[in-house]
Amino acid sequence: MYIEKIKLENFRNYEKEEIEFDKNVNIIYGDNAQGKTNILESIFVCSLGKSFRTNKDKELINKEKDYAKIEMESYKEDRKVKINFELKEKKKFYINGISAKRTSDILGKNYIVLFTPEDINILKNEPSKRRRFLNIMISQLRPMYVHLLNQYNKTIDQRNMYLKQIKYEGKSIENLEIWDEQLSKLGTKIYEYRKEFIEKINEKIFDIHLKTTENKEKIKIKYISNIRKKLFRKFEKK
Ligand SMILES: Nc1ncnc2c1ncn2[C@@H]1O[C@H](COP(=O)(O)OP(=O)(O)OP(=O)(O)O)[C@@H](O)[C@H]1O
Ligand SMILES: [Mg+2]
Repeated sequence: MYIEKIKLENFRNYEKEEIEFDKNVNIIYGDNAQGKTNILESIFVCSLGKSFRTNKDKELINKEKDYAKIEMESYKEDRKVKINFELKEKKKFYINGISAKRTSDILGKNYIVLFTPEDINILKNEPSKRRRFLNIMISQLRPMYVHLLNQYNKTIDQRNMYLKQIKYEGKSIENLEIWDEQLSKLGTKIYEYRKEFIEKINEKIFDIHLKTTENKEKIKIKYISNIRKKLFRKFEKK
């Protein structure tokens, strides 16, 4: 897969810009604050449906304008894919000219991996950073995974709401199990997807790491899920 071209209109500091890429390696260089990362961001938006720098889509619109557009053309398995992103009051995506019903419909149309200097935090910082990285990767490969994540988050919200009702409205604590069981089911599925993905990474990195360390080190990533340990064991035996 490779990106052929990207057209930007009122996106961040760009008013009108067209950038063509080479099939192989592309190096974007320039002084600070010239818009290098903005280019990467536009590719990310067309692949994942949102930015990696902000949750507020509006920030993507050039400060002096009231809408932004991106058009990205790429080739995946010799097939041309065109993604259009339009943002005014709301955001809208088109896949090969056809309006996408949901943002998640564009996932998997282009496979991208973002790795920035800050991403070293995937190793250093808290688990949520690692989960986020995994979520971004797996969402592109497995559409069902996004659905599961959404369901999981909704259930967490509902559970939290019920916790408040227990506290303030005297609702029964026993009913909490309904949410816990649901979370256990969804969490287990999410866990399976992550485990499968980690296994795939393991297959790839083992030889690479062995070679780069001149046969001295064997690398293996192990996925240890805390949630499973705490909450789900209770339901697994049922
Ligand atoms: N919504 C916006 N409207 C107009 N300009 C914006 C907007 N958002 C960001 N910018 C401008 O974009 C520039 C930053 O771009 P970017 O982060 O891509 O820089 P960079 O080339 O990656 O720099 P560095 O080398 O420091 O990483 C800044 O000049 C900033 O003012
Ligand atoms: Mg930058």
